[in-house]
Amino acid sequence: MELMKKLKSTTSELHRRVEETPINKAIIQQGMKLEQYKELIQRNYLIHASLEHQIKSVLNKNKHASVSHFFHSKLEWLEKDMTSLGLTKPHVTNDAISIPRYHSIAELFGCLYVIEGSMLGGSILYRALRENKHLDSIPEFHFFKNYGKDVGLRWKTFKNIVEDENDDPDATIRAAKNTFRFYESVFQLNLG
Ligand code: HEM
Repeated sequence: MELMKKLKSTTSELHRRVEETPINKAIIQQGMKLEQYKELIQRNYLIHASLEHQIKSVLNKNKHASVSHFFHSKLEWLEKDMTSLGLTKPHVTNDAISIPRYHSIAELFGCLYVIEGSMLGGSILYRALRENKHLDSIPEFHFFKNYGKDVGLRWKTFKNIVEDENDDPDATIRAAKNTFRFYESVFQLNLG
């Protein structure tokens, strides 16, 4: 588990920064209002749509059976949430955000580490959202429920693939850091 440990320790400060963006803090502090929740879903849509586009383009160029099999889009959950909230897909100009580029499977591992790891925190956030009185009118939180009780098993599968199949740990760590910074920038972006 060497690389996974290194990923965790080298990105813990970046994780803290993302957790402390006002919109994410509001979830845990139970202060999140409906309008803020809508914004949170739109920001997450922007993040996942951008990253998944990059992931697919790397996988098209570099065939990799276990990563292709493991990859699972989060957009269906986000689209269900947006539909039930009456939201349209957010439009942000390319100059407003700087989407990380990945060129190898090793870099994809860094990106997937951040995406899949965020699903773990998701279960805590799911509970906080369900208990939030301001959000009583929302019947289901598809994105934040994510894998439900299977999240741990999925994380374990991911860890095994990373440990067994990574050939450039430094590239993975660099890509994970860039991916965290991208999340932070979208959580702080002015959606206008
Ligand atoms: C308020 C928001 C968040 C909270 C409270 C939170 C909390 C947590 C917690 C408690 C864990 C450990 C879970 C476990 O080991 O079972 C975790 C893991 C993780 N989270 Fe978050 N998280 C938040 C947002 C995010 C976001 C937005 C991202 C992505 C940018 C993220 C990325 C990760 C990663 C990569 C891990 C795995 C760390 C490791 O064990 O290597 N988290 N988070």
